[in-house]
Amino acid sequence: MPANPLAAINSVALAIGRFSSLDEMLDYALRKVLEVLETDAGGLYLLDEAEGSLTLVVHHGLSERAWRDFDHLPLGEGLSGRVAETGEPIVVSHLKDDPRLTRMAARSEGFCAFASVPLRSNFKTYGTLNVYTRHEREFSEQEVQLLTSMAAQIGLAVGNARLYLDLKASERRFRGLVENAEDVIYLTDHNGRIVYANPALDRLLGYGPDVLSSGDVPVLALVHADDRARIADLLPRMLAGDVMRAIEFRVVHRDGSRVIWCSQTNVALRDEAGVITGMQCIAQDVTTRKALEEQMVRAERLADLGRMAATIAHEIRNPLGAIVNVIRLLKQPSSSRDPRLLDIVVEEADRLDGIVSEVLSFARPPRQLPVPCDVRELVENAVLLFREGAKTVPGPVIRVRCPDDVPEVRVDPNQMRQVIWNLLSNAAEASDSPASIDVDVTSPPDRDVVEIVVTDDGPGVVDPAAVLEPFFTTKAQGTGLGLAIVNRIVRDHGGAVQATNAPGRGARMVITLPIDGRAGGQRVVTTPVAAGMEDAWPRS
Ligand SMILES: Nc1ncnc2c1ncn2[C@@H]1O[C@H](COP(=O)(O)OP(=O)(O)O)[C@@H](O)[C@H]1O
Ligand SMILES: [Mg+2]
Repeated sequence: MPANPLAAINSVALAIGRFSSLDEMLDYALRKVLEVLETDAGGLYLLDEAEGSLTLVVHHGLSERAWRDFDHLPLGEGLSGRVAETGEPIVVSHLKDDPRLTRMAARSEGFCAFASVPLRSNFKTYGTLNVYTRHEREFSEQEVQLLTSMAAQIGLAVGNARLYLDLKASERRFRGLVENAEDVIYLTDHNGRIVYANPALDRLLGYGPDVLSSGDVPVLALVHADDRARIADLLPRMLAGDVMRAIEFRVVHRDGSRVIWCSQTNVALRDEAGVITGMQCIAQDVTTRKALEEQMVRAERLADLGRMAATIAHEIRNPLGAIVNVIRLLKQPSSSRDPRLLDIVVEEADRLDGIVSEVLSFARPPRQLPVPCDVRELVENAVLLFREGAKTVPGPVIRVRCPDDVPEVRVDPNQMRQVIWNLLSNAAEASDSPASIDVDVTSPPDRDVVEIVVTDDGPGVVDPAAVLEPFFTTKAQGTGLGLAIVNRIVRDHGGAVQATNAPGRGARMVITLPIDGRAGGQRVVTTPVAAGMEDAWPRS
């Protein structure tokens, strides 16, 4: 027994961490153990749990024949195998007589006393520490305890090294995944500066890995000037931990030669305490898809225009015919000059004007200027305006229901008021006076959208699939453009329109809009909009 057992344990503990490789450290620790306990030979077995076997990783004082014989041991076999299995030390004074002995080299080496203790840490056995003497010796209880304490230190080191290696291997695996990914993957700090970017981002933008991972480039610097204000608006929410999926924006190649559309999803990066340290972003190049979409929209518009020309000609002929007739009448010398004839001219001219406005609004929609909007305010304003302009007496009864916590939407308020106005106008026209109309605003908890639902008491829509088409009308004086304009505006905002019938009631028109931040590709506004709403208004 050494004079100072604590110092002995410490000397082993100190060895740990001084070595760059685990084998080197184990070798040093074993030498120390043999020195402290004054034994002739020793070895350290490490357990491979998956294989269920022990491997001799370092040894001292063993002949080649012995260490080759001892090299591999199934778990549970022999003395060390049992120690590793049970986690209990085994001490033997007459090794060659022990019936549990399976490796005969122990006899030929002339070993007498033997002690084996488990390498344990955190309730896990990592292997065994064995010592042998060639002369008769009884290991005292204190000596076994000392051996156990030193083995615990070694076990701790093995545990840490294994954890570190596992971590390294897992990092290598994930790094490979990220570095070979076609998708752009990057990380930012809590200020939105890029701290890591995978090669896909380099390839896309041509910056080179060092620039993008330097921590000097704010993510906003990569965003196209026209989208920067919109993304700058969203960034604080992203950095506050809001998960945002499929946000679309443009980025610009370093040499300015290419504008690339990206669709990006991001989640917050957090430290162990859950504090946000930045964000993790995955983005795809969707430029081709965007170009195709634009082409399709243009093609659709052209087709619409063709149909429109025919309808306009037809629509304009009736009021024009009426006006011409009245003027002919007025020109006759015998004409009574009834002032109501002039009223007819004014009325028909107004109708013409109305048709032209709707056609224009459909064919050349005004530039979209989206800003974050409160949906309740939007709906209530539209309802107020509609009530004021009501053509019927008594005016329609309109109920607005909207929860307080409905999220904001990013829309052009003028265009969106026109949408609601058109729906109210159809609902009022479909119902007996006074019309009873409900406007319900909801935000389904499982989807990132706001729904505006207009329900009336009329007969319902006859052909829900057709009513959104331009020029579909069942009204003698209709243009069939009201819902087509609604559809155009809502789709331009990344939303959808659905015409249905409410069971037991009339028509049920559903407008679905993405909540702020989820819609991509809108134009960015940096100045507030103060344009007069009349411009966007149908005047029929
Ligand atoms: N609330 C409604 N109830 C019943 N039918 C409707 C309603 N809204 C629209 N429709 C149907 O859809 C058609 C197209 O509507 P719209 O595009 O506004 O054109 P218009 O009102 O000029 O006919 C209407 O003619 C009507 O048949
Ligand atoms: Mg209409």
